[in-house]
Amino acid sequence: MENLLQQIEGYKQEIDAIEINGAVALEEYRIRFLGTKGIVKALFGEMRNIPADQKKEFGAILNDFKLFAERKFDTWKNSLGDLVTVNEEAPAGAGIDWTLPGDPSPIGSRHPISIVRNEIVSIFRRLGFSVAEGPEIEDDWHNFTALNLPENHPARDMQDTFYMNQNPDWLLRTHTSNVQVREMEKHKLPIRIVCPGRVYRNETISARAHCFFHQVEGLYIDEHVSFADLKQTLYFFVQELFGREVKIRFRPSYFPFTEPSAEMDISCLLCNGKGCNVCKQTTWVEILGCGMVHPQVLENCGIDSNKYTGFAFGMGIERITMLKYQINDLRLFSENDVRFLQQFTATY
Ligand code: DAH
Repeated sequence: MENLLQQIEGYKQEIDAIEINGAVALEEYRIRFLGTKGIVKALFGEMRNIPADQKKEFGAILNDFKLFAERKFDTWKNSLGDLVTVNEEAPAGAGIDWTLPGDPSPIGSRHPISIVRNEIVSIFRRLGFSVAEGPEIEDDWHNFTALNLPENHPARDMQDTFYMNQNPDWLLRTHTSNVQVREMEKHKLPIRIVCPGRVYRNETISARAHCFFHQVEGLYIDEHVSFADLKQTLYFFVQELFGREVKIRFRPSYFPFTEPSAEMDISCLLCNGKGCNVCKQTTWVEILGCGMVHPQVLENCGIDSNKYTGFAFGMGIERITMLKYQINDLRLFSENDVRFLQQFTATY
């Protein structure tokens, strides 16, 4: 026992001489003296070798030593403040160089739909178009009736609509054409706008259809606006977006809000005129609908159709993004899988 008492005395002197200058030193101290394999534990282990009549005395000295070692630890810990968290298993803060720069946090990337929307908008801005927006919850007038789609018009079936339970006059807009109406109703002419936004249709979700997607609508109204203006504007647009070599063609089509109406195709950029499954062997891909604003639509919005004419167009952002990046499943845009999203680097 004498021997052990001398050892304890030695440890006390050692502890008194220790200077703790940081979390690492403190943790080293804790492991050496107070840890599960530390000196205090080991000394308690010696108890069983102490003769019975001396156990009491030795136990008291050992307890004092334990308290002494613990109090020292507490004092140092308090003086180091918040930097030290003590945890038996994994000492937080121990071994860390606080002066090193931190790990960079991932900042994410822009969604491909946003990238392409910004690019489309910026091209039209260069032509003098400004951006207008409108509500996604719309009334029947702005989404349908004013656009020459009166109640029971068969063309309403082209767009399966979500109606609000509370009021069947309210719906989720099926296209961004509602913004046309809202802008025309302001009667500030000329109008030269693009309207990007989200639209909704009651479709079964698949690789080629979704219950929501995005469009960019365009509208230009002034005196003497002609179909030639429409053509040239859209030609400039696709050349900026897809490159100088792209060709366009217009096919007659039908929209209730335009007359004449057309759909515009661009030459398939994937196969360069050879035919592939993106263009379904036709070498052309459809990218938008357009036409001259129907005089009835102008009148519905209080614009004199004898004085003013205009053109309008509407395109799906998903469709253009899929062509641009060769994406073959619409669902990828809304699943938010970072492995997909990380692949897009925004220049817009
Ligand atoms: N609103 C049409 C749709 O969602 C797209 C469209 C076609 C818009 C022709 C227009 C237009 O402004 O002139 O399918």
